[in-house]
Amino acid sequence: MDENIVWHNYATTKAQRSEQKKHKPAILWFTGFSGSGKSTVANALEAALTEQATHTYLLDGDNVRHGLCKDLGFSDEDRIENIRRVGETAKLMVDAGLLVLTAFISPFRAERDMVRSLVGEGEFIEVFIDTPLDVCESRDPKGLYKKARAGEIKHFTGIDSNYEVPNNPEIILDTSKNTLDQSVAQLLTYLKQKQIIG
Ligand code: ADX
Repeated sequence: MDENIVWHNYATTKAQRSEQKKHKPAILWFTGFSGSGKSTVANALEAALTEQATHTYLLDGDNVRHGLCKDLGFSDEDRIENIRRVGETAKLMVDAGLLVLTAFISPFRAERDMVRSLVGEGEFIEVFIDTPLDVCESRDPKGLYKKARAGEIKHFTGIDSNYEVPNNPEIILDTSKNTLDQSVAQLLTYLKQKQIIG
């Protein structure tokens, strides 16, 4: 960083922005294989939260890669940069007082832990969507596993690119065992227990 760039304090604080919203800010960080159900669960949870007037925003890999991260591919280096940008964006949204949901494969522990370190204690909630690879592959909603097996897509997570399972996620969900409603209910219960929402 340029030593001539100096941090500027804002007159309006994170606490004030949060107080206006009547719930706490946090990041619900969904991680797991492509096709594991990250986007589906995050979407359904956001709908349930919106219903009860929680201020949310959903950052989803497939969408963010159309804009903010459209210059990035799927090499390890690009995935690291993808998560760095998303992490910084989510941090700004937490500062704005939002309950942020993110749905990215985010295959590497180091980058997930880096995002955790960007926000306050208890503000990063790692949600591991532990749907087995064979289930994700049999779902293959975008036909990408088929292409990866045929060698048409390189560096596909779970096929020829690594996924590091979270060591200590706050929440583990297996969408091959639970219904969507059960997953959403489990997440809402957690958020209430931690007094993030009322
Ligand atoms: S991450 O690894 O950098 O976190 P991200 O979540 O943004 O990935 O994007 C994953 C989505 O991109 C997948 O759901 C899939 O639709 C698509 N995709 C395209 N190529 C690949 C690939 N080589 N590996 C994984 N996902 C891919």
